[in-house]
Amino acid sequence: MSQQTGQLRLDFAGGAVGYRFRQGQGRGHPLVRAAGFKKDRIPGIVDATAGLGRDSFLLASVGAKVVMLERSAEVHALLADALARASAESPELADVVARMTLIHGDARERLPELRPDVVIIDPMHPPRRNTALVKQEMRLLSSIVGADEDADELMRVALASARERVVLKWPLRAPPLLESPKPSHQFTGKTVRYEVFLTATRTSE
Ligand SMILES: C[S@@+](CC[C@H](N)C(=O)[O-])C[C@H]1O[C@@H](n2cnc3c(N)ncnc32)[C@H](O)[C@@H]1O
Repeated sequence: MSQQTGQLRLDFAGGAVGYRFRQGQGRGHPLVRAAGFKKDRIPGIVDATAGLGRDSFLLASVGAKVVMLERSAEVHALLADALARASAESPELADVVARMTLIHGDARERLPELRPDVVIIDPMHPPRRNTALVKQEMRLLSSIVGADEDADELMRVALASARERVVLKWPLRAPPLLESPKPSHQFTGKTVRYEVFLTATRTSE
């Protein structure tokens, strides 16, 4: 991720995202573990809140096919541009981008027809008391898309649409997005937690 003249500019080849890719560090990442990758089976994933595209890129870099949904036209255009640039950068990046499909639309409408194995949800997080800790790129994104006030509704649609599981990325210490259901388990990163909601029994009824 890099910044130009105060504008948001996405870059999968450079910054922390590119570094992690070049080091091949994706497999052990808590998001990848939460998404339920198995040695012999990689799930089909919809990233319902594509945003800056970093989570989708991580999941695609370890082999998953990822459909990225983004409802902001402005953010969708930034993502489309970043994916095209990454694809032209190197054959290795082009391989990853080939597994990523970007769609402009609201996930609450698209998920019921897509019915993927796994849905990833990462809504704009509630404001922090210490705003200095919020990264500049997230502030810029927030100035474009605002707060995702309808995240609870998205979560309910995701729970009804995912064949296997929903993974919610949420600040480590924030109260739960939904009072119920409770997550089956969770993985933690430095500042966020990945709550896993298994849906297989619910959706096969
Ligand atoms: C916090 S960002 C996601 C960051 C992303 N996980 C990443 O790795 O860069 C949230 C994004 O989800 C989008 N979003 C929120 N609700 C959505 C919905 N119902 N459908 C599609 N996009 C949504 C917002 O416009 C915003 O760009």
